[in-house]
Amino acid sequence: MTITLNVNGRDRTVASSPDTPLLYVLRGELRMNGAKYGCGLGQCGACTVQVDGKAVFSCLTPIAALPGRAIRTVEGLGTIDKPGPLQKAFETEQAAQCGYCIAGMIMRAQALLDANPNPTDAEILAHMDGNLCRCGTQMRILRAIRRAAGRPA
Ligand code: FES
Ligand code: FES
Repeated sequence: MTITLNVNGRDRTVASSPDTPLLYVLRGELRMNGAKYGCGLGQCGACTVQVDGKAVFSCLTPIAALPGRAIRTVEGLGTIDKPGPLQKAFETEQAAQCGYCIAGMIMRAQALLDANPNPTDAEILAHMDGNLCRCGTQMRILRAIRRAAGRPA
């Protein structure tokens, strides 16, 4: 049995069983390694991607739930040569140490900015609460999101 997923605007047919978490399919079958495996339990946010514009934990989302829905990963925001505005803001603010949490952080932040292009600091902090950074770059991440929203970082 195969399932067709729309990833970053492109239909991808995958052979994984329907109960397989999206994260495993992205990394193992589609070789898209942006989203990271952290806890596997919906507690760290390293695996965050968007589904229909909402941030979701891909480690908890079976692919059976996803045909016909728009999946967006960090690979869909830009490239190393042409980073998207939010990726560029993270780079400018040097908002990473080990980098493990960053793809998830960016995808959760992008979901916020898509829905609310001018969030307050309180809205940013509340929205980002589900994503953890064990390196302690939270203030730089906040500055990067402010910058991407067009506010002084
Ligand atoms: S790996 Fe999905 S929330 Fe931690
Ligand atoms: S930069 Fe290392 S976990 Fe966030």
